[in-house]
Amino acid sequence: MASITLNHLVKKYGDGFPAVNDISIDIADGEFIILVGPSGCGKSTLLRMIVGLEDITDGDLLIDGERVNDKAPRDRNLAMVFQNYALYPHLTVFENIAFPLRLAKGKHSEDQVKKLVTEAAATLELTDHLQRKPANLSGGQRQRVAMGRAIVRQADAFLFDEPLSNLDAKLRGQMRSEISQMQRRLGVTSVYVTHDQTEAMTLGDRVAVLKKGELQQIASPRELYEQPVNLFVAGFIGSPSMNFLPATIDGTTLKTALGDLEIPQDRARKAAGKKVVLVGVRPEFFEDAKLVEDHKRANGSTFTATLTHTEWLGNEQYGYINFDPAPEMRELLNSLARDMDADELRPQVVVTLDAASRIRGGREAEIWLDTRKLHLFDAETGDNLTRDAEAGAELTREAAEERAEEIATAQEAEGRGNGTGFGSGSGNGASGGTRTGDAGAAHEDGATTTGRATGGTTTGGATATSGKHAAG
Ligand SMILES: Nc1ncnc2c1ncn2[C@@H]1O[C@H](COP(=O)(O)OP(=O)(O)OP(=O)(O)O)[C@@H](O)[C@H]1O
Ligand SMILES: [Mg+2]
Repeated sequence: MASITLNHLVKKYGDGFPAVNDISIDIADGEFIILVGPSGCGKSTLLRMIVGLEDITDGDLLIDGERVNDKAPRDRNLAMVFQNYALYPHLTVFENIAFPLRLAKGKHSEDQVKKLVTEAAATLELTDHLQRKPANLSGGQRQRVAMGRAIVRQADAFLFDEPLSNLDAKLRGQMRSEISQMQRRLGVTSVYVTHDQTEAMTLGDRVAVLKKGELQQIASPRELYEQPVNLFVAGFIGSPSMNFLPATIDGTTLKTALGDLEIPQDRARKAAGKKVVLVGVRPEFFEDAKLVEDHKRANGSTFTATLTHTEWLGNEQYGYINFDPAPEMRELLNSLARDMDADELRPQVVVTLDAASRIRGGREAEIWLDTRKLHLFDAETGDNLTRDAEAGAELTREAAEERAEEIATAQEAEGRGNGTGFGSGSGNGASGGTRTGDAGAAHEDGATTTGRATGGTTTGGATATSGKHAAG
């Protein structure tokens, strides 16, 4: 178990392109950090810098306070699980999991190996499959074998690079909750790269949003969702995404393509001096005006719109409203789209309606909007003018407290259960002697995907050492 500190980390590849540009993050011991951002923003690069598969161009990387920039991967004692996990087809599940232990030659007795593998297999519900070969397993089972390998290594931290992206939706959900519970039980520091909104929002204690190599914001999922620092974070976090409506502002009135919206004075004051703003409205701020109780109605604005169509999802419905922005506003939307890495930002608003709503496409309807919650963004800089930093920080503080409690509860339960929990202290990462073999295997996981592994190809850090291990 370890804390990891990224101090102004920079990665420039051979062509001078800064894939990671001055990123600083303090990862606490036992914390679960998620890295998200559009394709190419530097997530994998950052992860590979931490694990040691990629050189650090500038800045410092500290593990438990010790600078490790120049340490080989095998000396960092971190375990990495890749998107295309490499399993050895000729080895049984048992031996695949035991692999890192075998690599640390002579370090573990046969009894120890058996105990560690059996325990990991129980955690991952692989007990019945230990004698099978990877080819006969489902995708999810293979994924779990790869995880088992990381577990037996007793690494100081787990690093995941989109580990679930090859699985179907149902398995993903299942694995997600398994990883979450396992992380709590082991209390092991984890850094997890994903594209998946749900994974980002549910797994992480804090989520770091990256754009073009730069850190935009790192905070608890709730803080990102409720108090984003800028347009980019606001648009990236949440599904369906936040709607952005160009508006001119006149006192407490926002003139938008949907009509005039009255906003609370304190919100309006934050945008004082701006002529044009982008109004950020989450779909769930809208409701069918007919279904809004009278006492709530005063908290918002009601407008008339014709929905193009609705989608009924059982528990709620999505409605779609097209709007026609003025030409100069259209340009604003286009530049916003470029900024968000989208081809175009459709002049469309998505609203969430109660499942009981009878509003249907093609007919005029009254829609209510809760104006207390909307955010106003600077049309030029993208900064969130209405962000309440203090309220945001409080959300993240609460999340940190919850995490501490969850870990304590999970480990207590584990201790009561069988007394041999992986997270229960003794030997976990403390034994410096295991390091060589352990991280050597971490390295090799990424590297041996050429042909002999079942996982397919990866961008693993192929090095000379890897082939040897794989040849066994
Ligand atoms: N070996 C390399 N040589 C040169 N440039 C690279 C190399 N690897 C990555 N890059 C560049 O660095 C940037 C970040 O790449 P990285 O793989 O870290 O992105 P990512 O956020 O993981 O993307 P994805 O979500 O698609 O996996 C990209 O612009 C990429 O082109
Ligand atoms: Mg990547």
